[in-house]
Amino acid sequence: MRVLITGGAGFIGHNLALHLVRKGYDVVVVDSLERSSSFALRRLEESGIPIIKADVRGFGDYGGFDAVVHAAAYVSVEESIREPLKYIENNVLGTARVGYECARRGIGLVYLSSAAVYGEPLRLPIGEDHPVRPQTPYGLSKLQGEEVLRSYALVYGLRHVTLRLFNVYGPGQNPSYAGVITSFLERALRGEPLVIYGDGEQTRDFVYVEDVANVVEFFIREDVFDNETYNVGSGVPTTIKELARAVIRLVGRELPVVHEPPRPGDVRHSVADVSKIKKLTRIDPTPIEEGLKKVLSELKAGFPNNTSPRAGGRPVS
Ligand SMILES: NC(=O)c1ccc[n+]([C@@H]2O[C@H](COP(=O)([O-])OP(=O)(O)OC[C@H]3O[C@@H](n4cnc5c(N)ncnc54)[C@H](O)[C@@H]3O)[C@@H](O)[C@H]2O)c1
Repeated sequence: MRVLITGGAGFIGHNLALHLVRKGYDVVVVDSLERSSSFALRRLEESGIPIIKADVRGFGDYGGFDAVVHAAAYVSVEESIREPLKYIENNVLGTARVGYECARRGIGLVYLSSAAVYGEPLRLPIGEDHPVRPQTPYGLSKLQGEEVLRSYALVYGLRHVTLRLFNVYGPGQNPSYAGVITSFLERALRGEPLVIYGDGEQTRDFVYVEDVANVVEFFIREDVFDNETYNVGSGVPTTIKELARAVIRLVGRELPVVHEPPRPGDVRHSVADVSKIKKLTRIDPTPIEEGLKKVLSELKAGFPNNTSPRAGGRPVS
């Protein structure tokens, strides 16, 4: 089975590409390489995965693919607040082109959306039927992508599935705007204080990248392109304070924790209702302690040695 991954040289995309190849899929990556990491590129090359350098907005070579995973996007919340049009242009138009190419060829499409579409939740846990009120241009661009695909399903018969990912962590996140987990672990290994924005009582739903890969593979393997939307998270809320304590325990050294002001666009609480995806896939999420150990051992092994320039910013959500 041949799968095309857009944004496949990014954090989630390359982990997914490696996962699918291990499972026997024939994988091709298309990426502008604008925000890919040298670490991800090296891993893809070592695995012999072909990389097409192209912007998805101008790419139309979809012949011979059985499924497409659309991961290409700009993902910095902070940058999106500074430069909203850039996010609308790249993320919405990119999704519009990818969706159209899939629709006219009858290719099943997995769209990686984000919990950022919900904005500040009105109730917890957040189910798929929760109102969508994104409070950043990034979240808005992901939601507009969803809307475009929903419309294509009606107009052109697109077969797709939208996955709203919560806070994904794992090997290969670029430190310049990696999630809080990579940032905490790297700082802890260097013996630096852990920086918490706000009081640390805010909660997040952390999901291990391999779990995301398992879920995506499920949809491709089972050919489930039901035009539905699914949350992908762990279903477990973790406060940032708890996370800091877990990292300190794991690394086994005393480290100070410093607090800085909360950042614009940050929601207070976030945890996914994962009953819909669990009922369908039966995939159990990796407990955070286990995931942290895996990322730590990767980091200790010299990981991630990625130094390519990327947009400054802060964790995606
Ligand atoms: N990381 C998370 O916690 C998280 C959470 C929710 C949703 N997501 C979604 O998952 C997807 C992947 O996120 P990530 O964390 O791997 O980001 P990333 O920045 O590591 O990877 C994105 C990749 O897309 C490429 N890209 C961007 N615009 C492109 C374009 N127009 N054409 C071709 N390539 C382009 C970049 O060069 C980069 O390699 C995104 O769609 C993001 O919105 C991520």
